[in-house]
Amino acid sequence: MNKRSNVLVTGAGGQIGAELVEALRKVNNIVYPSDISIPDNPPDHFLQLDVLDKKRMKEIVQEYKIEEIFHLAAILSAKGEENPMLAWRVNLESVLTVLELAAEFKLFKVFIPSSIAIFGPSTPKINTPQNTVTDPDTVYGITKLTGERWCSYYHQKRGVDVRSLRYPGLVGYKTLPGGGTTDYAVDIFHKALETGHYDCFIGEDVAMPMMYMPDAIRATIELLQAPQEQLTVDSSYNLAAMSFTPKQITEAIQKHIPDFTISYQPDFRDQIARSWPSSIDDSSARKDWNWQPEYDLDKMTADMLSRLKTIKGL
Ligand code: NAD
Ligand code: SER
Repeated sequence: MNKRSNVLVTGAGGQIGAELVEALRKVNNIVYPSDISIPDNPPDHFLQLDVLDKKRMKEIVQEYKIEEIFHLAAILSAKGEENPMLAWRVNLESVLTVLELAAEFKLFKVFIPSSIAIFGPSTPKINTPQNTVTDPDTVYGITKLTGERWCSYYHQKRGVDVRSLRYPGLVGYKTLPGGGTTDYAVDIFHKALETGHYDCFIGEDVAMPMMYMPDAIRATIELLQAPQEQLTVDSSYNLAAMSFTPKQITEAIQKHIPDFTISYQPDFRDQIARSWPSSIDDSSARKDWNWQPEYDLDKMTADMLSRLKTIKGL
């Protein structure tokens, strides 16, 4: 990330954007958060932008002299299954728009996140390697995998400095998640404090890779700050912190709220979760740009509960 770059963030009203915008401002950037929806309390310099509107995106890049784009706008896995064509368009057409703008205007850097959803039922489930079988069976996963290939293509053929992380399921207290399969790991904290019971849409034994939001934000900034010559992956880096099942997160919450209970009503998201890895090998990220997570399940649980108690006035 360049000192005092003009930065456009798309999808800034979402779970990651709500926290990344603040973090980018702290590292001295002039940040223009944008989203298709106007938030109740829009952040400074907010711009309304539908990422399918190529003309408007180009105007914004020119008008605000944008040098870096953090392209977060997307339709997540569960919502994507409800509207596959919308997910295809939003998740892929916009990636090509961003990459074309980066090439045309010689942008300094772009960040386009990917996901553990690029993996599928035939992928090795434990310690999933950086390069392995990818046979996603959700439209979200298909779009993210195709997007990764376009990132690599634009880097190699057009010289675009595009960087990407395959985020695991992200857990944060500042916003609610936006329609993914890993959302249960956020919802469970809210219900634990509000009602003492959670009805989980994922089976009790399904382990997924997860990460606490402060680690995800720090990983993003650290990847963007790494010298290009140290990076060996131009598609998207595997990234890991912890893995847990609904049963294990329940036990972690019960250390703070002993009466907390959970029941299970698996729905279509359970099948999606079962098609994804249980744990991730992120040794390339650790080697290339010294990635180290800070939060494990117990540390995240303690922090989530204490922050949410304050927010909810409990
Ligand atoms: P989110 O669903 O919380 O936010 C996405 C935002 O995009 C929303 O504010 C939505 O209004 C906006 N958006 C949707 N369609 C748009 C359009 N046409 N134009 C402009 N904005 C539009 O998602 P998030 O969790 O913040 O994820 C951000 C990125 O990170 C996505 O690319 C997602 O695939 C990726 N990711 C997230 C997770 C996770 O667990 N949250 C995990 C892996 C990857
Ligand atoms: N956490 C996201 C989801 O569940 C995966 O990228 O959709």
